[in-house]
Parts: sequence; C-alpha cells; structure tokens
Amino acid sequence: MTDIFAFIGAGHLNRAIISGLISSTNKDNCEHSDCCCNNNSEQEDSFLSPEQILVSCKSEQTAKTIARDFSVKCFTDNRTVIEKASFLILGVRPNQVREVLEDIKQTDYQDKVIVSFAAGINIASYRRILGDNVIIVRAMPNLAANCQSSVTGIWTDCEVDEEQAEILDDFFASFGSAVWLDDETQIDGITALSGSGIAYFFRLMQAMAATGERFGFSPDELYDIISLTALGAATALLDNPDDGDFAQRVQKICTKGGTTEAAISHFDTANIDATVEAAMQAAVDRSRALSEEITKDW
Ligand SMILES: NC(=O)c1ccc[n+]([C@@H]2O[C@H](COP(=O)([O-])OP(=O)(O)OC[C@H]3O[C@@H](n4cnc5c(N)ncnc54)[C@H](OP(=O)(O)O)[C@@H]3O)[C@@H](O)[C@H]2O)c1
Repeated sequence: MTDIFAFIGAGHLNRAIISGLISSTNKDNCEHSDCCCNNNSEQEDSFLSPEQILVSCKSEQTAKTIARDFSVKCFTDNRTVIEKASFLILGVRPNQVREVLEDIKQTDYQDKVIVSFAAGINIASYRRILGDNVIIVRAMPNLAANCQSSVTGIWTDCEVDEEQAEILDDFFASFGSAVWLDDETQIDGITALSGSGIAYFFRLMQAMAATGERFGFSPDELYDIISLTALGAATALLDNPDDGDFAQRVQKICTKGGTTEAAISHFDTANIDATVEAAMQAAVDRSRALSEEITKDW
C-alpha cells in the first residue's frame, strides 16, 4: 500500500495516532518511559511508513515538533498536504472544522476519503460545505492510539469501494481495535464510552493516588501500583472472558466482611451507577450540543 495519508491537525489525538502508526517499526518514537507498545511480529511491518504521512497544523512550532519527533513532513498549509493524499485524517477541534473545510473545499475529492474525528459534527454538515460527492467517514478513537490500544468506533453512510474499505480497516487496526457502528447516533455513544472513557479511568486513578499518598507511598510508587492494577483488571477481563460479568467479578473479590466489600459499599452508598450514568449522558449531550452550536449556520 503506497497511499499517502494527510493528517490535518497535529494535536493530542492526531499526534497519538501518528505515534501509534509508526512506533511499531521505530520504538524510539514511543512516548512512554516504561513502554507498553505491542511489539509483536504482527506489528513489525507498520501499516504506514513516515514517507506516506504528511501533516498540516496551524503553528510553525507544532510543525517543527511533529517533523522532529516522527521524521514526517509537516506543513502549515492544508492544501499542500491533501494534494497527493488518498486519505485525509481530520483531527482538529470541532470549532476548527469549518475553517479547515472552507480552506480545502476546492479540492477534487473524487479519489479521496476523508476521515474525521471531530466530536458532534455529523456527515450532513460536511456535505453542506464540501458537496454531496465526498466520502466522509466519522471515527472516534482515543488517546491509547499511541500504544496501539485505541478502541475506535467508525461510521459512514458513503459508498467506499472494496480497496478503500480494506485500507480503512487496516488503518484503524494499526492503532488498536475498531468497530463499525450501526448508525451515526452511536458515534455519540462511543464518544461517551471509549473516546472520553480513558479519562474516566485516569480520573479514578487520580483519586486513588491522592488517597494512596496518605498511606505513605510516593507519587512514583503510586504511578506504578495504580497503572499495574488497572492493567491487571483489563488483562483479567480479556484473558478470561468466561469468568462472569462485571458485577460477578466484583463479587468474587468482595469477601464477606472483608476489605474490598467495605470499600465497594462506599461506592454503592454514593450511588456510583447514577454518577457514571450522568457523566456519560453529559458527554453525549455535549456532543449533540456541539453539533447544534457549531453547525447551525453551515
Ligand atoms: N483528545 C482526545 O482524546 C480525542 C478523542 C477522540 C476524539 N477527539 C477529537 O479529535 C479532534 C482533535 O482533538 P485534539 O484533542 O487532538 O485537539 P488539539 O490538541 O487542540 O489539536 C488540534 C490541532 O488542530 C490544529 N489546527 C487548528 N486549526 C487548524 C487549521 N485551520 N488547519 C490545520 N490545523 C489546524 C492545531 O494546530 P496547532 O498545534 O499548530 O495549533 C492542533 O494541532 C477533536 O475534534 C476531538 O473531538 C479527541
């Protein structure tokens, strides 16, 4: 596959994806001091080489940093990068999408696919600016893309040919796992689950670390203890899928009258289910409100 991928935007998300895409062949680019990247043989041949990646962003400073960190070409001119590209990877903030679309709307999109990560902006809105014949794919990855562990939800109502579909599948698989959604509204749901989801776990970790310090552990020790505990929980789930649902697994650790039961009963008293439900609904509501706020006059 020799197609060029143009990344428009080089912030948190596109940077994580570029890092994930090329780190399997160049582990020096991995951004972790304690690397968790899969470096198994399946990942040895990376899906894209740095030569196939062109990036554009707003500031010279970001362009220099990206070019230096990943040995890719990075410009501050969107039209330069999309000219030769078959796939455009739009990773700018929702309120920056319009400016980018206005900038690139004169391009001939006949043989190009646009993948957009912008929360809340629906496909109909892109069509209002770029026309009806553009292929737009909406996708919602997360920052674990940088260690090839993103869970990415994907949706399109456009016709992609077999080769494009295969390339898209390989692209998303190269920085984690991907799921094609049943309809566009599910993008809001996957945003609340996995797009924002790793931040929920980080937030819980932040609270655990704050309390852990009171027990005499240093920040470095807590970083290891908490992240390895989370890794243990995820690995136990993935390695033993038949060991019960989430509630049954909690019960297995909650010995009657024991320490975990004492802790979990506090979560239950504080109605953790209602808190999480409200938080996730807030993410979905925000996604819908963004759409309304940003695209109402497109
Ligand atoms: N962050 C996440 O975890 C996450 C997860 C899922 C989805 N998303 C979605 O991904 C998108 C990007 O989020 P982010 O957190 O990566 O945002 P971000 O860190 O703010 O990055 C935005 C990038 O867009 C660039 N940019 C702004 N205007 C531009 C223009 N006119 N032309 C070219 N580049 C331009 C900026 O360039 P400069 O650096 O030069 O200013 C910056 O590199 C959002 O739509 C968000 O909804 C994010």
